[in-house]
Parts: sequence; structure tokens; C-alpha cells
Amino acid sequence: MKRKTYLATICILLFPAILCSCSGNGHKGTTNSNGEIERKVDSLVSIMTLDEKIGQMNQVSVTGDVSAYAERLRSGEIGSVMNLTDPDAVNQYQKIAVEESRLHIPLLIARDVIHGFHTIFPIPLGMASTFDTGLMEKASRIAACEATAAGIRWSFAPMCDLARDSRWGRIAESGGEDPLLSGSMAAAMVRGFQTDDPSAPDALAACVKHFAGYGASEGGRDYNSANISPRQFRNFYLVPYEDAVKAGAMTVMTSFNDIDGIPSTGNPYLLKEILRKEWGYDGLVVSDWSSAGEMVAHGFAKDEADAARIAVNAGCEMDMMSFTFISNLKRLVDEGLVKKETIDEAVKDILRIKFELGLFDHPYTDTSRIRTAFYRKESLAAAEKAAEESAVLLKNEDNALPLDASRIRRILVTGPMADNARNQIGTWAFDGDPSHVVTPLAALREKYGKKIDIVFYPALKSTRDCDESGIAKAAALAGQADVVIAFLGEEAILSGEAHCLAEISLKGAQGKLLEALHKTGKPIITSIMAGRGLCIGKEIENSDALLYSFHPGTMGGEAIIKLLFGEAAPSGKLPVTLTRHTGESWYYDRMNTGRPATGKEVLLDKIPDDAFQTALGNTSFYMDSGSKPLFPFGFGLSYAEFELSGIKLDKSEYALKDSIRVYARLSNVEGPDACEVVQLYVRDVAGSTVRPIKELKAFKRVEVPAGRTCGISFVIPVSDLAFYGADMTRKVEPGDFELWVAKDSDSGTPVKFSVTE
Ligand code: BGC
Repeated sequence: MKRKTYLATICILLFPAILCSCSGNGHKGTTNSNGEIERKVDSLVSIMTLDEKIGQMNQVSVTGDVSAYAERLRSGEIGSVMNLTDPDAVNQYQKIAVEESRLHIPLLIARDVIHGFHTIFPIPLGMASTFDTGLMEKASRIAACEATAAGIRWSFAPMCDLARDSRWGRIAESGGEDPLLSGSMAAAMVRGFQTDDPSAPDALAACVKHFAGYGASEGGRDYNSANISPRQFRNFYLVPYEDAVKAGAMTVMTSFNDIDGIPSTGNPYLLKEILRKEWGYDGLVVSDWSSAGEMVAHGFAKDEADAARIAVNAGCEMDMMSFTFISNLKRLVDEGLVKKETIDEAVKDILRIKFELGLFDHPYTDTSRIRTAFYRKESLAAAEKAAEESAVLLKNEDNALPLDASRIRRILVTGPMADNARNQIGTWAFDGDPSHVVTPLAALREKYGKKIDIVFYPALKSTRDCDESGIAKAAALAGQADVVIAFLGEEAILSGEAHCLAEISLKGAQGKLLEALHKTGKPIITSIMAGRGLCIGKEIENSDALLYSFHPGTMGGEAIIKLLFGEAAPSGKLPVTLTRHTGESWYYDRMNTGRPATGKEVLLDKIPDDAFQTALGNTSFYMDSGSKPLFPFGFGLSYAEFELSGIKLDKSEYALKDSIRVYARLSNVEGPDACEVVQLYVRDVAGSTVRPIKELKAFKRVEVPAGRTCGISFVIPVSDLAFYGADMTRKVEPGDFELWVAKDSDSGTPVKFSVTE
């Protein structure tokens, strides 16, 4: 690490612009530095017994009561514990490991710190909709400061699983459907957690998970097989993991799923060939919860001992909670089924992380830090900023938004998410205290309670409530109000791990509530908070304006009210395509097919009654939903009207070693000061294999004051156009390309260029 920090410092001084590439060298630990840590690791391993080594490979989820684990800690049977959140308890555990075990090896203390620890930021899908990597880094820094104050030094994040199916509950924890966006966000999280000096007491080791392909689980059902072709795997799914690994992530977690019949925890091609050989990774590989032992249920191992053998030989070095390593490895080594050297390599990777985190020098947590660590003013401000930047304005008919408080006498606030502290912080927010959450209702009352008559009637108890008896009253109250704000969406429990849905429209009677409200003729403002991209075609129709937030966290309510009343302008963009129906499958970087839709297809309601096998267009579309999704990836409106113009490239023909310089102007032609996320897409017109319709190659958040025009530029190395083609090597294929600078993935006019040998 020291060398990395030193290098980075030189880079800042000499070449500020290349800082990113300097910090993106992958986790090299200290193996390349002065070798001091490596020597310590080697000498420690040389005096360890086999039992002690196997103990280091054992990770246990514990409770606060140390007495139940004391003996195992003393005898060195546990290398890492997870789920402690109290620094006193952490210190008690460390004390036994460090002072009472033979070799005094400290524990790695782990926890899922996914989108904040106590101060909860928007769920990762919401962080992705900010397209703001700087803010992601800041949010992760804040999360690390809070978590380390509780004694946690290892977080199981970022999740880098590319997700194209909103039925999958864990899409909430993902960066969405695009490899570049997911990878950029994941890398930012790694930087924010670890910093350049992971030995600092407020640094947290990152864990790239779930390696690999977990987001493609078949049918959107968790833990399911992922059927990904080798080329798709390389060109799409592996990208975010690699970006996070190259950002220096110290640890990687295997995934639950199998790919083409091989569970990841037992897949040497993934864990050795790709991760270590191709990417040069030298950190620690941990299993997912019990995923080593689960290879028995997969039908890949005949019993638990076999599972341990397969996992360790494949390159899995720490067993999270299946206890198959601790129970079987000694015998497997004795029988020659696992080599001693394999165990030594694993233990070295574990110990190296402990040295790099400074745990041997400073095993204990300063318990005083916790007093001022959580919910700091600046942390709450950052969480609010993130919630604000992540909200996506999907409709704003006749400028229904922003609301003008001076013209409103009475507002009806309705819907089950208006005042739902626990649920607005989303999945993986165990440590977020609902009493600190600002709900939209609370923020509205606080800001406008004295000026506006705020009538609150939720009408439904929860987002799943099917009882329609409150709807008539809600409609009657709407009739007496100047404007209605309906807060709809999903409770936290409807997304997350093993919380998948077969039907992803709004649950309960929420749709009916909105329909009844809309019928009153009053302006209907809908604010949705959810863990995934829902099918909201009807809700869009029944709303004058609709603001979509992926569970926005502690300060979500404050941010939403500010946006609704124009204190800030929305700037979030969809990190996933939204469909009209659950049965549709769309993602923007799909292939064109030989028969792409033309938009002229005949839909169900236009098919004559007596039609028999009539051609309806013979293209790739849905008869009952059309040829386009509801909203494309990258879409999001603002209160300002932005125009992109003057899009040009510095050349029309590029050599392989060149960079493409792209220029454009962004004008804020009407409305307030605001921010637009400018997106650059490229299409490779013809390749040795079919190529996506377009691919995001760069993005930028650009603030433009009202009435002003900004010049923007991008520099895209031609090498960024490389892909795995017919021969499965990654390279740029010379030929013709199209390039868009646009406000979403489905608009704009392309500029052409070509690449020559
Ligand atoms: C999840 C991981 C998580 C681990 C530890 C597993 O069930 O898949 O993402 O890090 O539990 O809580």
C-alpha cells in the first residue's frame, strides 16, 4: 500500500489528470513494496500449525455475547467474525484473539455496510441514478467513518452484479443494467471505503461481490443458475467486477449461483484464471454465506468434505458460515486431497489483509469515536444531496412541478409511503435508525406546515394493503385540496436478497387509489419510492407529474420535498430500463436483431377479429406492449429545458492508438439553474459478432445556470471500443461507428466516424 500512496502523491503533484489511472492498478497489497509485510506474513505462517491456519479460514457470524465464542477464539479457530456493531463487543472479541491465543492474530471484523451504516444513503440502485461517482465516493467515505467507529473494518460491498431483470430483488443493491455505470460506481465505493491508506483507523476493506454473474439469475429468482454466454460474460457481466478489482478492492466474494453448471465457489476458471491470472488480483477470496457447503445442495459436491475440497482447490480462501473448512480441511490435507501449499497461500492472503489494515499494530477500536460518529450534520447533508440527485423525474405535464407554495392553500398527502421511516431506507439498512429518518410528510410539515393546510390521510396501511375502503375518503379529501401528493411504492421488504417478485407493478390497492385521485381532476403529483424499476404505465397516465426514487435513505423525505417545491431541480437518470409489463425484457444495450422493430407494428387492439396468422410487422416487438420500453435507460427530466447542439468530433477517422475528442454545447434554454447528465453512446456498426444497439462510453453531470450555454468535451480512447469478438480476444475491430451525445439512451442523432488499422 505504501508504494501505491507514494505513487498517487507523485501523480497528484506532477500529473493531476492521471490520478485515476494511478489509483486503478488493482490490489497489489504490499507484495510489490519493501516487502516488510510479506516478510511478516511468511514468518507468521511458518510458525502456524495446520489447525491455526484452517482457523484463519473460518468466518463466523456472532452475537454480542463473547463468552459463547471465547474458547474457539482462544484456540485460533476463528479468523474473522461478522455482524458485531458495538465497539466494546468488538474489543472483547479482539482481546481474546490478540491476548489469549497462541499467535495473537487479530480478527477481521466484517459487516454488510451497503449504502451507509447509520446515516443511510439511497440504495445502490439510487446511488447509480445520480451518475455521480464523486458523490458515491463521498457517501462511501462517510459510511466507512461511521462503520469503523463501531469497530468494523471490512464491508461486503460493492455489489457488482449487472442486473437487467427487475423481478430480481437484489437489483436494489446493484448499479443497474450498464457495465460502465455499475463499474464506475463500484470503483468509487472502493476508493471511498479503503482510501489510499487502508491502515488508517477509519478505512474499511471493500469486498467485490458476488463473483460472478449472480445478477443474471434465471427468471429473476434469487440464487438461480445464470446462463450467460462466454462472450456476454466478458463483454458485459465481468466489467463491473474488474473495474472494482482494478480500483484496488482488497477482497472478493464468490457468488451463490452456478454458471453453465459450475457453482462460483467451486469454479477455478473464475477464481484463478480470470481473477488472479488475467486481472492480477492478489487479495482475499471469501465465500458467500454458506455457499461452500451449499455445493452439496447444488449437486456439485457429494458431501460437505467434498464441498470444502472443491472450494479450497478452486481458490476460495475463507468460508463464511458453512463450517465445512473448519470441519474437514485437516483431514483433506492429511489425505492429500488438498495441498498444504494451497492452505498456506490462502492464509497468507488473509494475514496480509490484516497487516494492511493495521490490525496487528492497532487491533482495538477507540470506543470514544462512536459518540460523535453517526448522523453528523455533514453526513446528513451528503445523504440529502444523494437523495436529491438520485430522484428521477419521469413526467411533468404542463409544468405541474415544481409546486408554488404561495399559491397552495391545502394539500392532500396520501399513500402508504408518505410517512414510512423504516421503509424509505430500503433493504440492507439494519443499522439505520428510523427515528433519524426524515419522511416526506415530516419535511413537508416542517417546511410548509405554517403556510399550507396539510391534510394527511394515507388511505392504505402498507404498500401491499388491498383494503380499498379508504379510497373513497381519499378521493373526497382530494376534492377539497388544491393539489394531491401521493406517496406510493414498495416497502423495504419487497426487494433485497431472496425478495424477488413475479409481478413488478405496484402492489395492493395503490393503483386503484391513484386512479380514484386522478378522477377528481385535481393536480396529482406522484412520488414513488421503490427497490426496483416498477411497471408504472398506468400510474404515469394517472399522474400529472411523477418523481421516482429508489429507496432514498435517511434524508429522502427532505430531498423529495425540496424537489417537489423547486428548491432543487431533479437531475437523476434511470440506471435501468422501465417496462410496461413484468413479462417484458428490455435493456438498452441489447442486440439489434435481424428484424428490429420499426414502430409501425400492429398491436393487439388493432388486430382484426377474424385475422388468422396475419403479419403484424414481423419484427421484434410485443403485440400487447409495443416496440419500446416505457422509459429508456438514462432517462430523466429536469425543470430546465436542456438542448444539446454542435456535437462534433475532432476527426472522422481514427487510428487504434488515438483518442476521440468529442465536443458539444449544452444550453439551459428555459427554467431554473439545473444539472443535466450528458451521456455518450457508441455503436459499432458491424463486427465479427453482432454488436449492441449502443453502449454507454462516458457520462458527465453538467451544471448549467438558467439561460446559459456550456461547452462540454469528452476524450474516449479508441481502445475503449474493444470487445470480445469472434475469436474471443479483446480488441478493437476497425470499421464504422456511430456516436451519440444525448440526454438518454434513446434520443439524439448520431455522428459517424471510422477506425482504421
Ligand atoms: C449475501 C451477501 C452478504 C452475506 C453476509 C449473503 O447472504 O448474499 O451479499 O454479504 O450474506 O451477510
